[in-house]
Amino acid sequence: MNELARRPIGVFDSGVGGLSVLRALWSELPEEDFVYVADAGHAPYGEKDDLAVLMRAQALTHELRYRYGIKALVVACNTATAAAIAELRASHPDLPIVGIEPAVKPAMAQTRTGGVGVLATRGTLQSEKFRTLLQSLSATAAPKLQACDGLADAIERNDAMKIEALCTEYTRAIGPFGQNFGDCDTVVLGCTHYPFALDTLQRLCGPTVLFVEGGTPVAKRTAQVLATHCLRHPDTNRLGQTEFVTTGDKQALAAALQRWLGVLPDSANLAPNQAVGPMSSGAPAKQM
Ligand code: DGL
Repeated sequence: MNELARRPIGVFDSGVGGLSVLRALWSELPEEDFVYVADAGHAPYGEKDDLAVLMRAQALTHELRYRYGIKALVVACNTATAAAIAELRASHPDLPIVGIEPAVKPAMAQTRTGGVGVLATRGTLQSEKFRTLLQSLSATAAPKLQACDGLADAIERNDAMKIEALCTEYTRAIGPFGQNFGDCDTVVLGCTHYPFALDTLQRLCGPTVLFVEGGTPVAKRTAQVLATHCLRHPDTNRLGQTEFVTTGDKQALAAALQRWLGVLPDSANLAPNQAVGPMSSGAPAKQM
């Protein structure tokens, strides 16, 4: 029996954004255990320089590996993936690592008008990795890029007025929206926080605009990578558990878990991998 396969999968983000990826991981891999780290004590990442993000990514990976014994890592943050995934893979060649990048290619394949907008952090849009992604596109019309300074932070703090104001400003910059040739009909959510502002974004852009996020592809890729390394949990009938850890405020993470995943806070640290229905044992959250 491969005992390594019974270990948890590590997931980290600058804060609550990665919960949008965790949600997809729960649905794709319900039998797996996870350790989710919200690096809220150092958020937001998007307006920091690459070296600062790289150092946080290295520290969190080290912690997840050597304190929690993870068998694989999901970097549930576009900014950290852009700044650090190559170095993380070089430092941990024996640890399977899956990252996330803005879903520009699927969006270009789905647009009917040729108009695609990309909302992401400044760090992601300015990265070498993102430049390479853009260069690989064979499309005739380039996507409209918008750096969304402050938006991840507003979502992190659940500041509804700020979310509304920033979404209004940033969607105006990538519009007009519509179904005519050249109108923007598809928007890439290139930061894992932004799916939590989807209602606001959809209202501002109109009901026909399609939003594309990367959580589900990342979960599917994680399943493939685990299978390739013979690391899928051997007991496929079990329901795994997730341990939540934060470098910031425990209560803030507890509130986010309740709001976004329907996990009820409890004195326990573990939550079952299900985002629906009432929870008997609830989440969060240790401080790191
Ligand atoms: N959620 C992260 C991302 O996907 C980072 C947001 C931030 O901390 O600025 O880019």
